[in-house]
Amino acid sequence: MILWFMTANAGKVAEAKEHFSHHGIEVKQLEFDAIEPQADDLEEVALSKIEQALEHLPNPDDMVLVEDAGLFIEALNGFPGVYSSYVLNTIGNEGVLKLLNHLKSDDPIQDGKLRNAEFKAISVLHHRGQTIVAEGICPGRIAHSQDGEDGFGFDPIFIPADLDGDGNALPIGEIGEVSTHGRTFSAIGLEEKQLYSHRRRALATLLNSIGRLG
Ligand code: IMP
Repeated sequence: MILWFMTANAGKVAEAKEHFSHHGIEVKQLEFDAIEPQADDLEEVALSKIEQALEHLPNPDDMVLVEDAGLFIEALNGFPGVYSSYVLNTIGNEGVLKLLNHLKSDDPIQDGKLRNAEFKAISVLHHRGQTIVAEGICPGRIAHSQDGEDGFGFDPIFIPADLDGDGNALPIGEIGEVSTHGRTFSAIGLEEKQLYSHRRRALATLLNSIGRLG
């Protein structure tokens, strides 16, 4: 089965390939000059992109996937959120760190809480007229400085919350069975990022639903 992933981001394609390859689904990148709609809501953006993607699908019987993600920082009332791409292209990770410069505490738990943030991904899968929407969230916090070489986007400044043995995210300050020990997404490999990833969580929910598609 072929799944066309509409995105210009090779990092996202690598993550989706890694995930779907375990389920016998071949992921291919669908790239064209899409119009980036400006909306307050990730789902609205993703659904509008699906409409565009359908016009470029090589075979109408193939599946098409669109995903829209953003970083939501609590102290900034959810900013950059749907403006994540714009913020990365303008002020970048250093700019985001500067916006949070004043938020620090000598108590590590308090410090983490002040810098609380989450990644959210909305994935939309379309197959022969049917659409499934799934959400994935990865809670965590913003680091004090960039760390690591891998990944893309905000990966160098995002530290995911630890996970318990069932893969559930723990409150900031609790040590879990799965932990990056304070390292960012950029400082851990892709395979390890998948344990926490908002994208992986949204894709896993989609995969569970694929069987329901006619
Ligand atoms: P998009 O619109 O879904 O491509 O995502 C908005 C912005 O958030 C892009 O600039 C991405 O680089 C960034 N972003 C999305 N997911 C991630 C992630 O898993 N790690 C780091 N940055 C991400």
